[in-house]
Amino acid sequence: MSKTEEWWRTGVVYQVYPRSFQDSNGDGVGDLKGIEQRLDYLVWLGIDAIWISPFYPSPMADFGYDVADYCGVDPIFGTLEDFDSLLAAAHAKGLKVLIDFVPNHTSDRHPWFLASRASRSNPKRDWYLWRDRKPHGEAPTNWLSVFGGSAWEYDAATGQSYLHSFLPEQPDLNWRNPAVEAVMFDVLRFWLDRGVDGFRMDVLWYLIKDDQWRDNPANPAFDPARSPPHMTLDPLYSADRPETLQIVKRMRRLLDGYPGDRVMVGETYLPIARLAAYYGGAAGGRLDGAHLPFNFKLIQAEWNAAEIDALIRRYEAALPEGAQPNWVLGNHDNPRVASRIGPERARAAMVLLLTLRGTPTLYYGDELGLTDVEIPPHRVQDPREKTQPGHGRDPERTPMPWSSETEAGFTVGEPWLPLNPDWPTRNVEAEREDTASLLNLTRALLALRRAEPALHSGSWRSLGVEGEVLAYMRVTGSSRWAVAINFSGESARFASPAPGILELSTEPDRQGHIDEGGLDLAPHEAVVLRLDQAGAP
Ligand code: GLC
Repeated sequence: MSKTEEWWRTGVVYQVYPRSFQDSNGDGVGDLKGIEQRLDYLVWLGIDAIWISPFYPSPMADFGYDVADYCGVDPIFGTLEDFDSLLAAAHAKGLKVLIDFVPNHTSDRHPWFLASRASRSNPKRDWYLWRDRKPHGEAPTNWLSVFGGSAWEYDAATGQSYLHSFLPEQPDLNWRNPAVEAVMFDVLRFWLDRGVDGFRMDVLWYLIKDDQWRDNPANPAFDPARSPPHMTLDPLYSADRPETLQIVKRMRRLLDGYPGDRVMVGETYLPIARLAAYYGGAAGGRLDGAHLPFNFKLIQAEWNAAEIDALIRRYEAALPEGAQPNWVLGNHDNPRVASRIGPERARAAMVLLLTLRGTPTLYYGDELGLTDVEIPPHRVQDPREKTQPGHGRDPERTPMPWSSETEAGFTVGEPWLPLNPDWPTRNVEAEREDTASLLNLTRALLALRRAEPALHSGSWRSLGVEGEVLAYMRVTGSSRWAVAINFSGESARFASPAPGILELSTEPDRQGHIDEGGLDLAPHEAVVLRLDQAGAP
């Protein structure tokens, strides 16, 4: 890989949900030591960086996204020394480490909030968003919590309500208060000084709320079948306010002040034009926002060739000059890709993720083809399942199955969530031995991507859609590659733009030379072709 390019432009990120990766002490919950024990697996797989979801001290109302101390480690995950050890071990093996930063809200048990709610005159009162109720006792605005109901909680002790965009246990910080920015920037420095390579910033587009406290309008695009309940209102005044970008830029400046390529990944569930804005930069100017504002469009898309082709083009066209694209198929908040689109399509989806232009983020377990796991009612953990049945996220957060040993090698205790029922066969050890497994396909894709500049940093160009076959080129210099994906359950013809070598296919035994005529793709097959130089377009 070229030395001049920042690692996050060519590398692949792997998301670790720490509760579910590897337990080292038998309490049924994964921990930092467990992650350290599994680093060799990640090196073997061929990823470049891990992003670890929150491990800070927390009452776990939202499994760590309710932080009670930004500069510590919850005992369930280990100690700060364990973190330092994990970071050093990862660096020694050539892996970067990104951590989750949760700036929008704290836990209601955070000492800052305890002080803030103690009295109206407390110096930290204004660190959170306190408002009077309306004259007839209604909430200050009609804003809705992502987890259901009003986003305001009335606090009888001081006679005002506080804003919580998520659970009442997650009060929103007031980022218009410079003191809040100052302490939160100190938190970033604390971790940067320890050596982390960057942050994934939680709900980055939520940081600033309307200064006039206007009600949100109804959302004409609300679709009861697809939209989460809080989207009955358009969050016009409660999210993605223009001032948010100013904070993003100051965060970026802070990161830029550190040596090495420290990266800022932002959680941004936004329309394409808006998420492009989070890269920052005025016309022609240097990009001064987030390096990688998450692009979740593949999670939301209808899985067919025309739709995916159109969205890749729309996204590519919307990016400012020099912006690094990024792609995601799954995370801890969405149904697993193999369940969303069907296990038979999961292999081609992995080819798509790892051959598009841009930085891919791979969700742990997706390389095994893990599906959502049905959670019996008595084992439900996610608070969202309790307030919004059917929207819970436990099914995609189940433990990583490592082997056919007890509890899949994840723990010697009782796993905090049930394992995938097919774990005796769907686990790392079994898939490592099976040359036809999705795990080995993913590893081969990662190796090819790493070896080939066209695949990790080449240009992207659509070759259009023919029936249900989507095809595109990746090019750098004289190295030209074509990727073709059959989205249908029927075989289909791919008319290759030039002859070439079939370097990789989702069909395990396929290889060889492809002539002018192209090739017949099997149902759901995806292929990666190295095109011959002579005669290439
Ligand atoms: C983000 C996290 C999600 C969490 C929410 C509130 O969307 O990814 O897991 O519940 O923020 O912090």
